[in-house]
Amino acid sequence: MATELDKIKEPVSKELKEFEKHFKDLMKSSVPLLDKITYYIVQKKGKQVRPILVFLCAKICGQINPSTDVAASLIELSHTASLVHDDVVDNAYERRGFFSINALWKNKIAVLVGDFLLTKGLQVALETKNYKHLQAVSTAVQQMAEGELLQMEKARKLDIDESIYYEIIRQKTASLIAAACSSGAASTTDDDALIQKMWLFGEKLGVAFQIKDDLFDYGDEAIGKPRGIDIKEKKMTLPLIFSLNKADKSTKNKIINYIKNDSENEEKVKEVIDFVKSMGGLIYAEEVMKRYQSEAIEILQSFPKNDARQSLEQLVHFFTSRKN
Ligand code: IPE
Ligand code: IPE
Ligand code: MG
Ligand code: MG
Repeated sequence: MATELDKIKEPVSKELKEFEKHFKDLMKSSVPLLDKITYYIVQKKGKQVRPILVFLCAKICGQINPSTDVAASLIELSHTASLVHDDVVDNAYERRGFFSINALWKNKIAVLVGDFLLTKGLQVALETKNYKHLQAVSTAVQQMAEGELLQMEKARKLDIDESIYYEIIRQKTASLIAAACSSGAASTTDDDALIQKMWLFGEKLGVAFQIKDDLFDYGDEAIGKPRGIDIKEKKMTLPLIFSLNKADKSTKNKIINYIKNDSENEEKVKEVIDFVKSMGGLIYAEEVMKRYQSEAIEILQSFPKNDARQSLEQLVHFFTSRKN
């Protein structure tokens, strides 16, 4: 059965098939252990929303060409590397519905596999002299590390406010999605203003994407990765930040205390989740997410109507209506 995403992919389906073949080949290694692990990763591919964005943003700005494919590989390799590392950082044992790399092979190996994937991506861009893609992705990967570290600092102090939350998710998630959109564009146009506009589009979209991800953490549906893990890791996300700001002082202190001292206690975590739900934290985050979504759609409306624009509009909606 064709999924919603299959329909969205239609204008670039041929290019995506080619990309998948290249991607699989790039993952190969002559070191048997590494080859076994990258084979495992390729079998459990994700939604591939970033390569889809690369191709659609390329198409809306011009004619897809080999440089577009390089951008897609570089972005998806960097993304995959970031997930392998992120699961080490978050102590997460499930990814894409299966065991994470650190769960199966331990942290030491996961760190090195992440390094391999990231540098593989850089090499593909270097070999083909696609320096502009390298520029965009190295900016994004640097911001990603900064975002994750800022998040860690805040998890220690528990003093995060809404503006810092947006800064964290812009850095850790939206920057790579912005790089996907802008390097797709940069592969088909030289118009700097247009490339910049696609970066901004990706940034809006990326913020909405991470708010949705943070909402999943409060949900009951299976998403192929752990839920309730953000509170366990003392990650304060938008629903919780909003709820704490609305609560009276003693409730606020109680909840912060639970997060500080009892984040491994299932009962207490459940109490925090119920608190967030009762304060309307999920509804608020949903509203903010929709606002970013509308801003992304608005940017698309400056383009002439065509199949790439239509797919991008549908993809924006998919980002916030997805089930995993
Ligand atoms: C997960 O990204 C990491 C976040 C930025 C929230 P995706 O949801 O795109 O992961 P896959 O590639 O589809 O598994
Ligand atoms: C996004 O944050 C992580 C990356 C930028 C790689 P999360 O830690 O919430 O992502 P998931 O939920 O593990 O996919
Ligand atoms: Mg994580
Ligand atoms: Mg998450």
